[in-house]
Amino acid sequence: MESTPTHREGRGGGPRSVTPAEKSQARQVSLRRIGRLFTDHRGPLAAVTAIIVASSVLAMASPFLLRTVIDRALPERDLTLLVWLVVGMVAVAGVTAALGVIQTWISTRVGQQVMHRLRTDVFAHLQRQSIAFFTRTRTGEVQSRITNDIGGMQSVVTSTATSIASNLTTVVATAVAMVALSWRLSLVSLVVLPPAILLTRKVAGLRRQITARRQRELADLNVTIEEGLSISGVQLSKTLGTGAALVDRFTASSARLVDLELRSELAGRWRMASMSIIFAAIPAVIYLSAGLPGTAGTLSIGTLVAFTALQGGLFRPLMGLLDVGVSLTASLALFARIFEYLDLPVEVDDPAQPVTIDPRRVRGHLRLDDVTFSYPGSDTAAVAGVTLDVPAGTSLALVGETGSGKSTLAALISRLHDPAAGRITIDGIDLRDLRLADLAAVVGVVSQETYLLHTTVRENLRYARPDATDAEIEDAARSAQIHDLIAGLPDGYDTVVGSRGHRFSGGEKQRLAIARTLLRDPRILVLDEATSALDTETERAVQRAFDVLAEGRTTITIAHRLSTVRDADQIAVVDHGRIVESGTHDSLLDRNGRYATLAV
Ligand SMILES: Nc1ncnc2c1ncn2[C@@H]1O[C@H](COP(=O)(O)OP(=O)(O)OP(=O)(O)O)[C@@H](O)[C@H]1O
Ligand SMILES: [Mg+2]
Repeated sequence: MESTPTHREGRGGGPRSVTPAEKSQARQVSLRRIGRLFTDHRGPLAAVTAIIVASSVLAMASPFLLRTVIDRALPERDLTLLVWLVVGMVAVAGVTAALGVIQTWISTRVGQQVMHRLRTDVFAHLQRQSIAFFTRTRTGEVQSRITNDIGGMQSVVTSTATSIASNLTTVVATAVAMVALSWRLSLVSLVVLPPAILLTRKVAGLRRQITARRQRELADLNVTIEEGLSISGVQLSKTLGTGAALVDRFTASSARLVDLELRSELAGRWRMASMSIIFAAIPAVIYLSAGLPGTAGTLSIGTLVAFTALQGGLFRPLMGLLDVGVSLTASLALFARIFEYLDLPVEVDDPAQPVTIDPRRVRGHLRLDDVTFSYPGSDTAAVAGVTLDVPAGTSLALVGETGSGKSTLAALISRLHDPAAGRITIDGIDLRDLRLADLAAVVGVVSQETYLLHTTVRENLRYARPDATDAEIEDAARSAQIHDLIAGLPDGYDTVVGSRGHRFSGGEKQRLAIARTLLRDPRILVLDEATSALDTETERAVQRAFDVLAEGRTTITIAHRLSTVRDADQIAVVDHGRIVESGTHDSLLDRNGRYATLAV
């Protein structure tokens, strides 16, 4: 059953196949750890327990009232007694129901709070993950875990707390009442337990396996949706004509889900059916045992009726309780997936003892000392032994062939990764000693690809600085040479940019990114120029925007435009992760080396 083909898991860039280690881990989720999620809620849980005990004691009264009705009030035609007994029965039902509501409220609250905590913890923890994590994780996988897995758990945790509370009340109360009525008959009723427990265990194990597979399948489905229905994905599939294949993949994935759901549902149904047969047989056995020579005559009719009534009412809550076992066991698979995320180490993190700096007073002297870095899983270094010195307020242009490691250098400077060896300092302070928030205030990045949020232009710009006024936002846009264009849009600054900003051209998006960076006003700027050729008009606009942005700051530009390169204080030629030449435009041309070949 675990041998389903996992060919699809590797698709979409991330090696997310299920390793044996992962499978065994799923089996080892510690119940104690799950229990710890509830430790903050001891008070409410104690209240729930108290209510359970109270309701049990109360409910114990009902069968005795019934027995008195049948054995005394009715045969003796005692109307007063009858009325009192009936009032008592109604009152017991009323109070029990009220307690049930309170209990449901408390336990649902506890369940929801636990889920809320888990969801926010996972979100916050994943937020802190380094870029490497997101590179190796399929888009859609993370969403699936947060929505499908925690969502699935939510119903388990919430309904578990509620179900345990309410069903346990009934079962305990009923059992106590049964024993009080006749311990002999109670013993007879116990025959139901062994098969019930056996069946439940079997089904629980089955469900757990199915759940683990279903969640993986759901994640796959999500990935396909992301790859097939996001704007970039649709563009790709339309231009490559892979629409039909995508539909096939989705259909296959969905069909597997149908199969899993069916099996999961059927397993439950079979158990239910077997159980109801067993339960139906009990009253018969009870009547039989009541008439057996040893017991005959020792039980009143009232006791017998009250007892079978109780026993009949035991079925649903008992099944409910056993179901909790089933869904809890099944949910271990969900917990395993969530805990796996929570246990991921944070690779790039805030230092334990950060150096406190005032980002506005940083001078912006950037140094790289013998920096080496390679991407996980790659044996060649993307950056190897790079040493660079960029004095405050000066500009450095990085040039080199595609894939030479320029963007990687930029990522290291903004600490998206940490170097494997060597160090990067700003004003002599190692980046790893700075708070991430401070570093983000000091180093501004305009990357090759601009990400825009699906909201208005204004909000996209304000994302960079939430307290920026409208006037400041427009100023930034003006400096970034994009104000006129925005003003010309149907809704001006309130125009929604479209999913990921597909409404804008590459050059426009980049100018929006420049405006965003201007709002942040960082001391050090990292500009990764778009590699795609812009038309001269746009290029000039982008160039002017870059120039405004660069004024008075330390800038590291990954340059594809000759003008950027020519004016730089310092040019470094990158090749296979190494700096092979550096100097000014003229000095490098004079050398007639690598730069000279690139520049022509
Ligand atoms: N996330 C990653 N995982 C593994 N390898 C990567 C990753 N990103 C980049 N690389 C590899 O590292 C090398 C340097 O890539 P980088 O993006 O720094 O090149 P670049 O100089 O910016 O190129 P371009 O001019 O095309 O933007 C390349 O060989 C690339 O394949
Ligand atoms: Mg690049």
